[in-house]
Amino acid sequence: MKKVVVLGLGYVGLPLAVAIKETGKYDVVGFDISDRVLKAIDSGKPPFSDPELEERMKETKVQATKDESKIKNADFYIVCVPTPVTDLFEPDLGPVKSASATIARNMKTGAKVIVESTINPGVCEEEVIPVIEEVSGLKAGKDFDLAHCPERINPGDPRWSVYNIPRNIGATTKSGAEEIAKFYRTFIKAQVNVVSSLKVAESTKIIENTFRDINIAYVNELAKSFDKMGIDLVETIEAASNKPFAFMAHYPGAGVGGHCIPVDPYYLIKRAKQSGFDHQFLKYAREVNNSMPNYTVDLLQDGLNAISMPVKGAKVMVYGLSYKANVGDLRESPALKILKLLEELGADIIKFDPYLLDMSNVESLEKGLKSAEALLVATNHNEIKKVDFSKYPKLKAIIDGRNCLDSEKIHQLGIYYKGIGR
Ligand SMILES: NC(=O)c1ccc[n+]([C@@H]2O[C@H](COP(=O)([O-])OP(=O)(O)OC[C@H]3O[C@@H](n4cnc5c(N)ncnc54)[C@H](O)[C@@H]3O)[C@@H](O)[C@H]2O)c1
Repeated sequence: MKKVVVLGLGYVGLPLAVAIKETGKYDVVGFDISDRVLKAIDSGKPPFSDPELEERMKETKVQATKDESKIKNADFYIVCVPTPVTDLFEPDLGPVKSASATIARNMKTGAKVIVESTINPGVCEEEVIPVIEEVSGLKAGKDFDLAHCPERINPGDPRWSVYNIPRNIGATTKSGAEEIAKFYRTFIKAQVNVVSSLKVAESTKIIENTFRDINIAYVNELAKSFDKMGIDLVETIEAASNKPFAFMAHYPGAGVGGHCIPVDPYYLIKRAKQSGFDHQFLKYAREVNNSMPNYTVDLLQDGLNAISMPVKGAKVMVYGLSYKANVGDLRESPALKILKLLEELGADIIKFDPYLLDMSNVESLEKGLKSAEALLVATNHNEIKKVDFSKYPKLKAIIDGRNCLDSEKIHQLGIYYKGIGR
């Protein structure tokens, strides 16, 4: 039985390790440096909320370890470690290099090393190969193959998962890429496409995510402009969407979060700069999207001003702390910036997220709404859409940072309502 080692057992690595193990064809070992993560997996649970994965883990137990003696001589090593940015938006390739060194200390000749972490073009050849060659003494393309197969998983998405999202693979050699594609086809029921180089594979994921960042920045900028002109941008986008070609709807909001969209563009910006190109468009998109939490808090201030209520001392409920609906992932969440801004303004903050109860300071949405004078929706978890606001007489203003509420009904109750561009 071939041996597969997955390094990094988070949102990307754990579902992948489970999917590979489910085939029954491989001996799968998960490797992670976090005791918290190892403990959760050992108890049969993901280290994050994912009910479907938790079900699968009941059937398929993946061995998880930080013991390097358990990851020796594998046929495939798959790197799924984080690729964050620092507080100054500088790419941090520390985890990728460290995982590369771990592999290099334990690999055999003929091993296939696959990087799934999102990286900018050039990282495999400029950062990963030098580390592996130096530590192992082996030669890339001769003694081992290195491939990049970017992960496109969208945690919490019921339709698209590790099993059915198509993949692109580029590697040091064509035969290596073909062999790795064959391996992926054993657990992915979707197209596994071989591209001509590592750099093309690396670039695919980066352009997918910068594409989203730019498009979201475009509608966020439109929201600011349409708010001034008093035009409903959401209705406009919906109407524009009936064009059957060449228009793709993106929607404005209180900010862009998660480990990918607000992070990956900086990797491309930095690498292109090293080659002498300044990605002004991408930088501006980042600037616009980074400005949205401030804009949302400005809308709240305007709203409270309109009803003659100072933000200082006002009981403001921030609903939703995670970066997207129906998950408990806090990474780069705009809600965190919103909380900080409201704190600076002296608001009396009530915060609640049904997926992050330890971060919340009330037990339920209902409890929070009972005492809140203003509500700022930072994340559109399902429950917020079902609220009957007539039950909360203290509530005077709602800022709908996700445009997910029924504005008409709220207006009819005499509550001030403002969405983003709506
Ligand atoms: N989360 C997503 O939606 C998503 C989607 C597609 C791609 N990606 C990319 O996949 C990569 C992983 O993202 P994630 O969301 O799974 O991150 P994560 O933080 O959920 O998981 C990463 C895991 O790697 C472990 N780790 C860190 N350094 C390590 C090391 N040196 N050796 C072994 N383990 C180590 C951490 O303890 C953690 O458990 C990133 O590059 C990300 O951009 C993420």
